[in-house]
Amino acid sequence: MARLLLLVLAASLVALASCQRLPVLAKGLPVLAKGLPVLAPVTKDPATSLYTIPFHQGASLVLDIAGPLVWSTCQRGDLPTDIPCSSPTCLLANAYPAPGCPAPSCGSGSHDKQCTTYPSNPVTGACAAGSLARTTLIADTTDGNNPVSQVYVRILAACAPRKLLASLPRGSMGVAGLGGSGLALPAQVASTQKVANKFLLCLPSGGPGVAIFGGGPLPWPQLTQSMPYTPLVTKGGSPAHYISVKAIQLEDTRVSVSERVLATGGVMLSTRLPYALLRHDVYRPLVDAFTKALAAQPANGAPVARAVKPVAPFELCYDTKSLGNNPGGYWVPNVGMTLDGGSDWWMTGKNFMVDVKPGTACVAFVEMKGVEAGDGRAPAVILGGAQLEELVLDFDMEKKRLGFLRLPHYMDCSRFNFTRSA
Ligand SMILES: *[C@@H]1O[C@H](CO)[C@@H](O)[C@H](O)[C@H]1NC(C)=O
Repeated sequence: MARLLLLVLAASLVALASCQRLPVLAKGLPVLAKGLPVLAPVTKDPATSLYTIPFHQGASLVLDIAGPLVWSTCQRGDLPTDIPCSSPTCLLANAYPAPGCPAPSCGSGSHDKQCTTYPSNPVTGACAAGSLARTTLIADTTDGNNPVSQVYVRILAACAPRKLLASLPRGSMGVAGLGGSGLALPAQVASTQKVANKFLLCLPSGGPGVAIFGGGPLPWPQLTQSMPYTPLVTKGGSPAHYISVKAIQLEDTRVSVSERVLATGGVMLSTRLPYALLRHDVYRPLVDAFTKALAAQPANGAPVARAVKPVAPFELCYDTKSLGNNPGGYWVPNVGMTLDGGSDWWMTGKNFMVDVKPGTACVAFVEMKGVEAGDGRAPAVILGGAQLEELVLDFDMEKKRLGFLRLPHYMDCSRFNFTRSA
């Protein structure tokens, strides 16, 4: 009898557990833990080098640090909204039309149409018309050290046709924009969960890393409490996050790029690109300085790096046997960016050397195509995934500042403890 009771109990627990995974259930939702930040594990997709977070029903969303919206291939269970075209929400949804995509207008006429938005694919640049729907992100709250309890975060997403998923990781159902706009994920979590409009990213090079929306205690306080900050810059017409770089150094030598050149177009952060893209007037001096530094005899008696035939799109490639290794990756000169506020952001070989084939590693700075030197419509530099990985990045849209901390070599982003605290 007792055994039967146990079985019945176990069966109903399983049923309960599987129900709770469905976001469509309106009844029986766990109580929202208001005020606690929201945690999501971040996975790097090996095929695309894009980063994803879990969404619901086993599907994921691609993180786009410069994206203005959350969009998904909406499904049954996502509730269509009745948001008029002229409403403030619709204006927010259309505040940053992607290049080449229509800028919606409500048209004239006394009857207010439904809101239409144009979500865009961050990789292909394609866009499509979609309406807005209410959907649910299933995640955990966090105290900064561990997950605390499951939470259903209600969000507004633009609905996109399945074809907009082209070139995105298998299993993804849309994109979570983390830009500085009103309908980006951090702003939506801030308003529904009553938390700050901030997010922390620790992008993994292996996996899994961590994203925390809403501030709260930072993970690894012994390291993060002394994190340097630099102003987080926004530019009209773009939801992307920029930082202000005053100078670039190769070890202790300043690269001949002026502050004015770096300020022209600014330095943008991207999770869409695996490597940094540099405008010609930044690229040339940096690559020349690099070539020179690597051709010189290292002071420590290590062998001279042996240049080999370049592999496109890279220009500088080396025989890996001639490059030493250290905890920072290949033993190459570190690249430093002096940021507004005075702190330096250093990149080691791990952040800009890429193995292109056995025995060959290249400097993964790529020259922007189709952009003239000094053309301020293009950023001077776009930092990509390789530059942002294994760093704690604290994006604070309220204080308009970015904290950045390189994890020591014995640590990495996958050290976050995803075991729920009892
Ligand atoms: C992770 O957190 C759990 C719950 O607090 C704890 O029991 C466990 O020891 C932690 N693991 C590590 C490796 O710190």
